[in-house]
Amino acid sequence: MDMLIALQRVPEAPVPAGPGVRKPIAPEHDLVIAWIARHFTPAWASEARAALANRPITLFIATRGAPSELLGFCAYDATARGFVGPIGVLDAARRGGVGAALLLACLHEMRAMGYDYAVAGAVGAPDFFRHVAGAIDIPGSTPGIYAGMQHAAQ
Ligand SMILES: CC(C)(COP(=O)(O)OP(=O)(O)OC[C@H]1O[C@@H](n2cnc3c(N)ncnc32)[C@H](O)[C@@H]1OP(=O)(O)O)[C@@H](O)C(=O)NCCC(=O)NCCS
Repeated sequence: MDMLIALQRVPEAPVPAGPGVRKPIAPEHDLVIAWIARHFTPAWASEARAALANRPITLFIATRGAPSELLGFCAYDATARGFVGPIGVLDAARRGGVGAALLLACLHEMRAMGYDYAVAGAVGAPDFFRHVAGAIDIPGSTPGIYAGMQHAAQ
């Protein structure tokens, strides 16, 4: 199921205690893609690669410490314009505000880029999107843009 987010009603981005939210610089891009493939899925790593090829890039990371340790990422305009996601936070770093900070960073930048709504595609954590961004279900949105896509296991 896809979900719709009204960007004009999205709350201010919180600042999580500890982690910083920023865009990766070019020398970090391959590391970020490999980290996403390792901790999440090859498909999400491919979407991250697409977001990192946009200019300006459309992917934020959350990091902690120096040298910085990656905790999570969120992309937009990866598989389709106006789509937000994928988003992922390391298991050990969840429920600490990192996911909300990443999602809201993307949504605020989308609004600044001229979008009024964002679509979260094939949502795996709908309650998180409802809670953080007021997302609502899009009737008839299954199967969406990912229908029939190739998977690594095939
Ligand atoms: C979904 C995900 C990104 C959330 O990251 P997180 O860092 O744990 O989220 P936060 O701590 O910022 O949570 C923000 C709020 O949403 C709530 N929340 C977090 N995950 C939730 C979930 N799965 N369902 C419902 N509420 C959730 C938190 O309790 C918190 O509420 P609060 O503001 O009242 O305290 C993370 O669980 C994840 O990476 N999951 C696996 C990948 C995934 O499913 N991605 C989404 C695909 S569409």
